[in-house]
Amino acid sequence: MDSTTTKSRRSRGVIESYREFLPVSAATPVVSLGEGNTPLIHCPRLCERVGRSCEVFVKNEAVNPTGSFKDRGMTVAVSKAIEHGTKALICASTGNTSASAAAYAARARISCVVILPAGKIATGKLLQAFAYGAKIVAINGNFDDALRIVRELGATGDFAIVNSINPDRIAGQKTAAFEIIDEMGDAPDFHLLPVGNAGNITAYWAGYREFLAKKKSTKLPSMIGFQAAGAAPIFYHRVIEDPDTIASAIRIGNPANWQQARAAIVESRGAIDVVSDDEILAAQTWLAQHEGIFVEPASAASIAGLFKCCDSRHAAYSFQEIPEGSRIVCTVTGHGLKDPDVVLQRMRELKPIAATVTNVRRAIGL
Ligand code: F0G
Repeated sequence: MDSTTTKSRRSRGVIESYREFLPVSAATPVVSLGEGNTPLIHCPRLCERVGRSCEVFVKNEAVNPTGSFKDRGMTVAVSKAIEHGTKALICASTGNTSASAAAYAARARISCVVILPAGKIATGKLLQAFAYGAKIVAINGNFDDALRIVRELGATGDFAIVNSINPDRIAGQKTAAFEIIDEMGDAPDFHLLPVGNAGNITAYWAGYREFLAKKKSTKLPSMIGFQAAGAAPIFYHRVIEDPDTIASAIRIGNPANWQQARAAIVESRGAIDVVSDDEILAAQTWLAQHEGIFVEPASAASIAGLFKCCDSRHAAYSFQEIPEGSRIVCTVTGHGLKDPDVVLQRMRELKPIAATVTNVRRAIGL
């Protein structure tokens, strides 16, 4: 029996699931942790918020092996790096790329260097890179400085760069669009997602176009990207020297895939918009408490963006007049447990009580 048919779709990973669409051959050693095939969750409360009989789905990328969408691209990038005989990976990161690179490097038995902006990485992500055994270097600078250094070190040939400037990363990430089409039977009408270095919006757009060309779908969605208001170079058409947002994953002032993101937005008749930190945190809480999906702040930008499209006259794309029954997909990109600090601050201190039913009844107001 073929080894791939002995595995469930979940365990197979994105390379075995979509091999014919990826830059791999029989000679490529597959480095996989069972990424992809993530849930596309129908969200009734979000449907109510949008109205007009629209259907809203959340593509929950937080349930990938290292808790973010980066694993889709990393399986391809690391498999190709191994095929080319690479001995070490390198990346700049706001946290999730480094966690993913570290995990896949461990799996492939090669080393991994991660360059991070000091003090700007969410606790859980830093902890992951450490646990997987990466060499961690913190710099006094931001993500854009880290990526500049990585580009230079990568050019020496000592490392494979596994940031989204590596086309194998984009190729792997486009499989999320394939999964959505396979599951929905066609592309959605709108696709909303957070934008940082702009690799993901580039990858989804490539995936949607490829499946349309292969006649696996009949249409293309409008791509609507959301940046944090303090880190919105694409929205403001200028490099942001000192980007700032609570959503540390998308704290990026000079995205590497800027032009590709612009092309995706223009070609798809979509939009780029901004959401404030308050809107992001409110959406994070709302999604956890109304749909049971707990994501990190950057991920909640797509949900905050959906609310903005529905409610605000100032939205770059208004949903007040979209066709009845439109289908909308929002990607959420990383797990809430990676970035617990904001939620921790809101948590009340728990004062233990006596271990009796009477006391517990009183404590819960019965
Ligand atoms: N959401 C999360 C949770 C992310 O970690 C990132 C990017 C994005 C959204 C934006 O995706 O860069 O493809 O536009 N994180 C990168 C990192 C930059 O280093 O982990 P993008």
